[in-house]
Amino acid sequence: GKAVKVALLGCGTVGSEVARLLTEQADELAARAGAPVELAGIAVRRPGKHPELPQHLLTSDAAGLVESDVDVVVELIGGIEPVRGWLLAALRKGKSVVTANKALLSEYSAELSEAADSAGADLYFEAAVAGAIPLLRPLRESLAGDRITKVMGIVNGTTNFILSAMDSTGAGYAETLEEASRLGYAEADPTADVDGYDAAAKAAILASLAFHSRVTASDVHREGIGEVSSFDIAAAKALGRTVKLLAICERVTADDGTESVSARVHPVMIPRGHPLASVGGAFNAVFVEADAAGELMFYGQGAGGAPTASAVLGDLVAVARNRVLGGRGPRESAHAALPVRPMGQT
Ligand code: HSE
Repeated sequence: GKAVKVALLGCGTVGSEVARLLTEQADELAARAGAPVELAGIAVRRPGKHPELPQHLLTSDAAGLVESDVDVVVELIGGIEPVRGWLLAALRKGKSVVTANKALLSEYSAELSEAADSAGADLYFEAAVAGAIPLLRPLRESLAGDRITKVMGIVNGTTNFILSAMDSTGAGYAETLEEASRLGYAEADPTADVDGYDAAAKAAILASLAFHSRVTASDVHREGIGEVSSFDIAAAKALGRTVKLLAICERVTADDGTESVSARVHPVMIPRGHPLASVGGAFNAVFVEADAAGELMFYGQGAGGAPTASAVLGDLVAVARNRVLGGRGPRESAHAALPVRPMGQT
């Protein structure tokens, strides 16, 4: 078939892996998509700083690249503005969007999916939550015939690395955070991770899909790990427990039978025998409970270049295939079925 032209916005840890895999696995991807998936341009802030990339593909004009003759926009820059405007422009022109942008999705998924729906475009974001782990497709597609009651897990690798290290060394929070930054496990500015914003954004995305609702990051009760001390960890140990930062999304039924959605992120002391207790390092793990399916567990690498690129490429093959075969997906189920429980009422 005719080549599917891809604009890549951002070429950092994940973007560079996407560019590499797109080039190295071009033949296999083309076979699976039904047409060549061709990198048409890469928007980066400073084109001069990427000698490793094909120079003719580089531009600093992301808006121009989105407007150009491309079929798919893969966004790996992050943050809300100016990315939101670029992605809306792409969707409104009927271009497919693949993004890993959890901050944007956790605030503007309604606006983005409406834009996608009205233009008949695709919006895929498997990489936004739990990196390589296939989690959003199972929630929205495989379990679409079931009734999910709970989604709970470790969705932030940085804080899990820190808490696991504090548990094994007995060291304090500040010291362990410093070590994590030194080893490259924490970002230069770790605020979004350690204060729970990253996990809260992911919880909003998970709750929206699992409960066919509209949950935004501001609906999520949030507490980070900054207050967890070596004393807390030792106390947990003495009780046969360990501390994990969990995202917990639940379907809640009030006494009068009305249902709502509750989502929260906070440190939890869990029994050492619990499967989540043994999830170490930068790994993620998520439990899902559904009426008919019972309990499911998803586990794998939740961050990092190659693991996150795996999820991006899976989405890219899906949107390319939709273009080739004329289908589209994944459509949102009709939203607003379940109200979101106001914060503080847990
Ligand atoms: N900072 C995130 C984490 C990256 O530590 O999990 C993946 O979203």
